[in-house]
Amino acid sequence: MKVIDVRNVYLKYPSSKEATIKGISFDVKQGEIFGFLGPSGAGKSTLQKILTGTLRNYRGSVRVFETEVKHRTSNYYENIGVDFEFPNFYGKFTAIENLKYFASLYSHKTADPMELLKKVGLHHDADKLVSSYSKGMKMRLGFVRALLHDPKLLFLDEPTSGLDPANARILKEMILEEKRNGKTIILTTHNMHDAEELCDRVAFIVEGTIKAIDAPHAMHKSSADTKVEYSYLDKGKEIQRVCMLSDLGTSVEFQCALKNAALTSIHSKEQTLEDMFIALTGRKLQ
Ligand SMILES: Nc1ncnc2c1ncn2[C@@H]1O[C@H](COP(=O)(O)OP(=O)(O)OP(=O)(O)O)[C@@H](O)[C@H]1O
Ligand SMILES: [Mg+2]
Repeated sequence: MKVIDVRNVYLKYPSSKEATIKGISFDVKQGEIFGFLGPSGAGKSTLQKILTGTLRNYRGSVRVFETEVKHRTSNYYENIGVDFEFPNFYGKFTAIENLKYFASLYSHKTADPMELLKKVGLHHDADKLVSSYSKGMKMRLGFVRALLHDPKLLFLDEPTSGLDPANARILKEMILEEKRNGKTIILTTHNMHDAEELCDRVAFIVEGTIKAIDAPHAMHKSSADTKVEYSYLDKGKEIQRVCMLSDLGTSVEFQCALKNAALTSIHSKEQTLEDMFIALTGRKLQ
């Protein structure tokens, strides 16, 4: 079942000369983690704001749960959870007060805020004012706020940016747990490792257009592109060579080194998602 269906969408900010989103189409099925991957300024957050109903002056069609987002009602937010790139909280309230307040905005049952804080290691800081929170603490708080009402569809904009590796890992495990529970997730990132680890499919976004959509492993596991680096000893001297994996079986030099037990190292260099991104878009991710 399609949860999101986007057809030929354009968006121009009133203050800009040119459109920021230029004819984007894609769909997302239920239970998928779908990534927006692209360099800074590509339009990822703008696209997310269109999908979450914040920016409604778009052209084209954006259907979420079979409803045109432009015509959404406030009910829309009962089914979606949004973790913003720059989460806003009431700084003069504590973390737990903030979560309780946001929970009160939903009409159906919400999760225990303390349990959520515990999951992201913030339970000891529950009674601190959010104004005293660090960036990473606010990011974690923003993430659990999006989960409060157990939404069917989650939008996560750079959820791990600025987090230390241990906290990033906790969030990534929680994202995968949401997927196991049947949730659909849109994940915006310029971190190719996160995209690779979490996403079923990623869209490469550059300058407001989608250059490619596929599963991360399908994008870079083509063995035709895999290189092998090896070195071997020849009369006491180390020789280093690079060869395509597909040519290894017919390489006389490699076969000789192998037969003479002269190999000193061998490793394959698969194309990374970033290599593919550069090849397809001519742009770097960062
Ligand atoms: N409110 C706005 N008014 C005018 N232009 C905007 C506005 N918000 C974003 N833009 C422009 O739209 C383009 C895309 O911005 P967007 O925030 O969607 O990029 P992004 O892919 O999320 O980047 P990043 O990885 O840095 O978060 C940028 O050129 C940005 O300057
Ligand atoms: Mg962004």
